[in-house]
Amino acid sequence: MKVKDIKNIGLVGGGLIGASFALAFSLGGLNAHIYTRSKETLDASEEIIKNSLDELIKLGVKKEDEKDEILKRISYTNNLEEAIKDADYIQESLKEDYDIKRKVLADVEKIISPEIPIGSSTSGLKATEIARDMKHPERFFVAHPWNPPHLIPLIELCKGEKTDDKYIYLAKELFEKIKKTPIILEKEVLGFVGNRIQAAVFREVLSLVLNGVVSMEDADKAVTFGPGIRWGIMGPSLILELGGGSEGIAGFMKNIGPSMELWLEDLADWDKLPISPEEIGEITAQELRNRDEKLGNNRKSLGEYRTKMLVEFLKLHGKI
Ligand SMILES: NC(=O)c1ccc[n+]([C@@H]2O[C@H](COP(=O)([O-])OP(=O)(O)OC[C@H]3O[C@@H](n4cnc5c(N)ncnc54)[C@H](O)[C@@H]3O)[C@@H](O)[C@H]2O)c1
Repeated sequence: MKVKDIKNIGLVGGGLIGASFALAFSLGGLNAHIYTRSKETLDASEEIIKNSLDELIKLGVKKEDEKDEILKRISYTNNLEEAIKDADYIQESLKEDYDIKRKVLADVEKIISPEIPIGSSTSGLKATEIARDMKHPERFFVAHPWNPPHLIPLIELCKGEKTDDKYIYLAKELFEKIKKTPIILEKEVLGFVGNRIQAAVFREVLSLVLNGVVSMEDADKAVTFGPGIRWGIMGPSLILELGGGSEGIAGFMKNIGPSMELWLEDLADWDKLPISPEEIGEITAQELRNRDEKLGNNRKSLGEYRTKMLVEFLKLHGKI
């Protein structure tokens, strides 16, 4: 199969991620057929899609007269066979549970032919384990999105032990075609790449706050207006390439490397959260209350501010 032959996407699971993925595929010009198991979940799926599209129209990314065409490419059903019988690619976004994913994938394999690729949205389960009972595990892999997939470009493609590389390369082309940024992981690792980096940064933020070095508010400012704003343009290695004068990152490491090693020794290295989720929530709630209303000072307005800024950033990157 070639990427140009992929026209119909079967979305197995249409919750937060499945619905947003359907919109991402439709925005990319492909047909998206959503399967969920009940009428209520289908209605919820349709609501997520319509609201997200209205938001894109409000932010000037799409025009009102494009709306019908984008929505027309998306269909909804409680019948698995109807959703996937003509699919050229399947994105599984079921609840994060091995048993549920394995059971529904067994049903999926009874309907589709063996060469149809299946990517899983799983955030943390292993491709090898999800595919354990599959008849054709060679066409199965993880295609991990970031929420919401219709906006965030990164897709982490991760092979299982039995995955055939050709499916990974096909998925890479498919996601590039719809303006996503796929990366390929050569080994199965917990948390893939993005979540590991996010966890490492958050561990240090929390550690600095708990050690009384800064408030959560100032730690967040430090990330947003320091490294974070640069990382949104290019990754940490390329940023350091610009920080070492004529020798680039090698020069940076020669100059700053010895200091960096001292910082590394001093960084947090705990592997269990030192305080409860509720306590982390309370520290963050205080920060939220202190924020300017225009920047979002409750969960709803913060989310709207995030989306507005994200869209401007995506425009600069040519990703929307
Ligand atoms: N929420 C996130 O931020 C995020 C980000 C990246 C990846 N993911 C991954 O995406 C996947 C879906 O997550 P979500 O946030 O959309 O969850 P969700 O709860 O919103 O949706 C889950 C879907 O699974 C269906 N489902 C649940 N139990 C089922 C069963 N027994 N049989 C058939 N269908 C069943 C639900 O009806 C729903 O359509 C998970 O693997 C998750 O790890 C989530």
